[in-house]
Amino acid sequence: MCGIVGYVGKRNSQDILIDGLKKLEYRGYDSAGVAVYTTDGLQVKKSKGRLAVLESKLGEKPLSGTIGIGHTRWATHGKPSDENSHPHTDNSFKFSVVHNGIIENYISLKEELIAQGHVFVSETDTEVISHLIASLYEGDIVKAVQKAVSRMKGAFALGVLTEYEPDKLVAVRLSSPLIIGVGEGENFIGSDIPAILEYTRNVYILNDGEMAALTRDGVELMTLEGNFISRELFHVDWDIVTAEKAGFDHFMLKEIHEQPKAYRDTMGARLDESGQKVVLNEVGMTPEQIRAIRQVHIVACGTAYHAGLVGKSVIEKLARIPVETDVASEYRYRAPIITPETLVIVVSQSGETADTLAALREAKRCGARVLAITNVVGSSVAREADDVIVTWAGPEIAVASTKAYTSQLIAFYLFGLYLAQTLGTVDEAYIAEVAAGLQELPEKVESILAQADTIKEIAEQVSTHDNLFFIGRGLDYAVALEGSLKLKEISYIHSEAYAAGELKHGTLALIEEGIPVIALATQDDLFEKTVSNIKEVKARGAHVFGIHAEGDAELAKVVDHTFAIPATLPLLTPALSVVPLQLLAYYASLARGNDVDKPRNLAKSVTVE
Ligand code: G6P
Repeated sequence: MCGIVGYVGKRNSQDILIDGLKKLEYRGYDSAGVAVYTTDGLQVKKSKGRLAVLESKLGEKPLSGTIGIGHTRWATHGKPSDENSHPHTDNSFKFSVVHNGIIENYISLKEELIAQGHVFVSETDTEVISHLIASLYEGDIVKAVQKAVSRMKGAFALGVLTEYEPDKLVAVRLSSPLIIGVGEGENFIGSDIPAILEYTRNVYILNDGEMAALTRDGVELMTLEGNFISRELFHVDWDIVTAEKAGFDHFMLKEIHEQPKAYRDTMGARLDESGQKVVLNEVGMTPEQIRAIRQVHIVACGTAYHAGLVGKSVIEKLARIPVETDVASEYRYRAPIITPETLVIVVSQSGETADTLAALREAKRCGARVLAITNVVGSSVAREADDVIVTWAGPEIAVASTKAYTSQLIAFYLFGLYLAQTLGTVDEAYIAEVAAGLQELPEKVESILAQADTIKEIAEQVSTHDNLFFIGRGLDYAVALEGSLKLKEISYIHSEAYAAGELKHGTLALIEEGIPVIALATQDDLFEKTVSNIKEVKARGAHVFGIHAEGDAELAKVVDHTFAIPATLPLLTPALSVVPLQLLAYYASLARGNDVDKPRNLAKSVTVE
């Protein structure tokens, strides 16, 4: 996720900007840049790669000035490159912008600006903002930014600087984080508190729909409509490490809590204004090519593989195309039957997993079209695939994947609906119902997160055991696999996920007095069958924690504890039922005193086969 820093004061801004950007490195980035107002006017230096690359560029020719903005970019629109790095400017080079977030209507704004004669040099949505502000400027930068923002759709935080008013920094927040640091004769902006913590502990936290105008002597807070706001300063007493985690104890917990935003961002402009139709401009397949697909292979590793198992059910139900999901390290060696009528979907958070990449290359060699679902723009998988659906979860730091997994589910729902729209395999009313259900998910995840303490209690009980089981049928089984993996990864407790109906064919022999069983029973049509399987383990002494959909009182009669997820369409339940399992793994790991974010023996990105 991009990082923003801004400074206005008496000191050399370049040093403060670089220093602040270093504090935001934990957010992940692929390029960096700064803009400083100097005696030669606005000067911009930026480059692809680590901050050290930018620093060496600046070392050759430092930018001297007391006001500036800086940025670390995590690519969304356009690959990581010098041109796509921020800050972006307009053609006159008088306006400079740094941006975190996504401008959903940037294509139409860009077309409008090109028609007015603006020339674009990058592939980014951000460059549109600098041109738009320049085109609306009539002597007041605050007003120009307000006008520009009123034309922009999406979620974003901005830092804006103009040579025409070289003592003023403008900051905007709409759904992407931004804070203002207040110092003595100097003021700051930052995506996050660590960026400015070395200089001041007094901050204003901007709310959505608010903006600020900063000079070295003061800060004016206002709404995007220009109404002034008065607010108490917030005094930060966290240390820098806590601040990086936004006050959460671990990155994993932070990332679990970021899921509502990740869902919203991944859906973003991919649902049209009616909210009932999926628009996937990034998928270049023609309707004829879609109609020619005879089979889909989903290939991935680890958590991404588990997302692929849900993806199989989603695509088969919505598009009625046969789907196989494979572990990437197996796929290549089992001589899969791949034809030009096969669509291969590779799923990878990092886009760099060696086995997944090898499977992608094998699929291409056999003539298949490859669609990638990845969280990293410009990654190897993204570059080599024919089509890419980016999950906008933002960088994931904890080794145990959470928000990347659920964003992959959202990508599968969107793609499944997109296929169904094109193929006419389900009626429009059902498509609209699923689309509406998707949009309600973020709020429903929030309501689960609000019950974290209940899960914590269960996790503390579970953490004293060495073995346990997750069971479920259909989509619940796919989620059980992910819940079990999460628990293994970070709590080191052995667990197995089983298709509930399969237990009696052998594994039931392992069920003994007191063993914990997490039973998922969220699927209406499989509910009674699952309950029968739960009774089988209960009869052998298992202690059962049941997860069910709200409004269904039956499960409580057969299990020891229940946890209700908000009601939704059966197809969409994985995006909710996995959340208590993520929390369960987190709190069990915590109770065992493990290093939650960096579990033993594991790596975030596995680039060896
Ligand atoms: C590693 C990570 C897992 C991840 C898997 C696939 O094993 O620890 O969390 O699911 O790689 O990673 P990818 O980046 O391809 O999704």
